[in-house]
Amino acid sequence: KKDQFILGIETSCDETAMAIVKNGVEVVANVVASQIESHKRFGGVVPEIASRHHVEQITIVLEETFEKANMSVEDMDAIAVTEGPGLVGALLIGVNSAKALAFAKNKPLVGVHHIAGHIYANRLNKEFSFPLLALVVSGGHTELIVMREHGSFEIIGETRDDAAGEAYDKVARTLQLPYPGGPHIDRLAKVGEANIDFPRAWLEDDSYDFSFSGLKSAVINTLHNAEQRGVTLKKEDVAASFQASVVEVLTAKTYKAAKEYGVKQVIVAGGVAANQGLRNELQLKFNDEIELLIPPLDLCTDNAAMIAAAGSIAYDQGHRAGWDLNANPSLDL
Ligand code: KG4
Ligand code: ZN
Repeated sequence: KKDQFILGIETSCDETAMAIVKNGVEVVANVVASQIESHKRFGGVVPEIASRHHVEQITIVLEETFEKANMSVEDMDAIAVTEGPGLVGALLIGVNSAKALAFAKNKPLVGVHHIAGHIYANRLNKEFSFPLLALVVSGGHTELIVMREHGSFEIIGETRDDAAGEAYDKVARTLQLPYPGGPHIDRLAKVGEANIDFPRAWLEDDSYDFSFSGLKSAVINTLHNAEQRGVTLKKEDVAASFQASVVEVLTAKTYKAAKEYGVKQVIVAGGVAANQGLRNELQLKFNDEIELLIPPLDLCTDNAAMIAAAGSIAYDQGHRAGWDLNANPSLDL
């Protein structure tokens, strides 16, 4: 059987990324141009700046990707692109580049949901066994998703307010750590002591939903109260205590859902899957009981290899986008 090559394109937020994936599971080239330096001084992603960077970077990233793979667009079976969710101006750069390439080279075009991409980053590591449970934890999403077959996603729980990554970034900001704050909190938590008792939002007994805004407020109030009393809390301890709360809830709910749904695999996806505390705790909890897949660090945060991986399945299933493919900032999974 002839090998399949998919070009993936991802521009939903602040990384301009392209990748080539072989047969849906093997990364041939993976290029990510990060804009973090440009957004840092604003403490978050500025949409207008993001769009401008994507325009500047996209052809450079395209050339680098094909150079690394020693291939050309002609060699691709299809072009897969993130159509949403994300920043509309940012998404448009990727979608229009994909359409232009597909049109010029007469290639099939496939639209990919960003979260499907995060989930399929795990398939670059190991074949899926269904049913499986995916814990998606990124800057914009916190979801527990059951998959019974390729391309089918049943959301059984989600955040009612902030996403896990958003909570990390907001707490990091109050600790005066640079954007994005997740990796900094992770680093401090390693050396700190979880000696502050922050709340855990369990919600209703039977709920797989999450809530992180109460925790975020508790951290802010604790810091404020300490300051009023002239006490300085160690940033490391605040980070460790905050992380302990997030990790405990994420791990417990994931474990309970995995048992209830009798899944064969648990996979973790999204930027927060890079968190060492979460990775360790999940590994401890699942041990050898249920197979746990967590992507390598560079495939946890935004990249295009994951988009090509998800695009490969969509392509195999016969999904094709038309020339009317559009950026959809609030696309449903
Ligand atoms: O998936 P991603 O790259 O972009 C979105 O689709 O949102 O996730 C970015 C999020 C940010 O909130 C960032 O702070 C968080 O992932 N993050 C982490 C770590 N690395 C990235 N959070 C906690 N610990 C980390 N090591
Ligand atoms: Zn993402």
